Amino acid sequence: MEAVLRSMFQSIAKNAAANKLAKKYGLRFGAQRFVAGETVASAIECVKMLNAKKIAATLDHLGEFVFTEEEAKHSAGMCLLTLDYIYTTKVESHLSVKLTSLGLDINKELCMNNMRAILERAQQYDNFVRIDMEDFFHCEAAIEIYEELCKKYDNVGLVIQAYLYRTVEDMERLHQIKANLRLVKGAYKESPNVAFPEKMDVDENFKKIIQMQLLNRYYAAIATHDENIINFTKKLVSDHQIQKNMFEFQMLYGIRVDLQNKLVEEGYKVRVYVPYGVDWFGYFMRRLAERPANSWFVLKNLFK
Ligand code: FDA
Repeated sequence: MEAVLRSMFQSIAKNAAANKLAKKYGLRFGAQRFVAGETVASAIECVKMLNAKKIAATLDHLGEFVFTEEEAKHSAGMCLLTLDYIYTTKVESHLSVKLTSLGLDINKELCMNNMRAILERAQQYDNFVRIDMEDFFHCEAAIEIYEELCKKYDNVGLVIQAYLYRTVEDMERLHQIKANLRLVKGAYKESPNVAFPEKMDVDENFKKIIQMQLLNRYYAAIATHDENIINFTKKLVSDHQIQKNMFEFQMLYGIRVDLQNKLVEEGYKVRVYVPYGVDWFGYFMRRLAERPANSWFVLKNLFK
């Protein structure tokens, strides 16, 4: 049953018509638990609350299914606006971006130009931008773009997904440029031809890439709510005397708040991914897919 629900939510997340409809009707079905509002101002308020608890943020202006140059320019504009807001309100937050929202499916050069503009603005503000990793289809292009951007900018990082078979090789490749990586399990519906279907194998690969990144002393953002993985990381850094400024834990807005607070109390750097915007549907569906038990919570909200 859980596998069926997971697959169903992952498929709906990719449905353009459902995404469009949801945009029209606004944030609902309990999505507010995972999405920090529809405007940058509302997201900044959430970041202020996190910062008050000594938790840093990375803001993400949600956007999927971008197929025209105009839409890509609008998304890039929203990223610039987000950086402006972070700077003027003095909150502690990075920016996370998705390359498809910046035009990757239209034309790679358009996407590169949008990324350059975002990184220039971030550089002016001494800020940092993380490129999220999307589905397998976009993986190679994302790595190539990241490699190209790293030739000029040092304020950019990438995400790598433990569930892909290619990941260990990608990490070896990215170590040549001392990549700053966020390591995650992976959230998209992928074929067993490209990704481990079993959770146990994903977890093993996750531990392997955490070791690869940290033992080589490259910066790692360990992005997970899985306590086994978090405990594994704590032991690894303690056994190898890895300084606390070489890594951070990251979690998603609205998930395992208790654990976020506990890690801060223990003295670890914690950053929460704070998504906002009208294009919330795909993101929300992927959160339901990760934990189908969340769908009860949606049903409850349907009748509110
Ligand atoms: P796992 O799924 O095993 O969950 C461990 C525990 O965490 C669960 O038992 C539950 O308690 C809790 N939990 C996890 N998900 C939950 C949910 N949705 N609702 C309630 N509880 C939940 N993916 C990707 O493909 N590309 C990317 O760029 C990113 N970026 C990213 C940034 C950050 C900061 C995080 C934390 C995650 C991502 N992800 C991502 C998502 C990631 O790939 C993965 O899908 C989720 O983090 C869930 O996996 P866990 O590692 O938490 O483990």
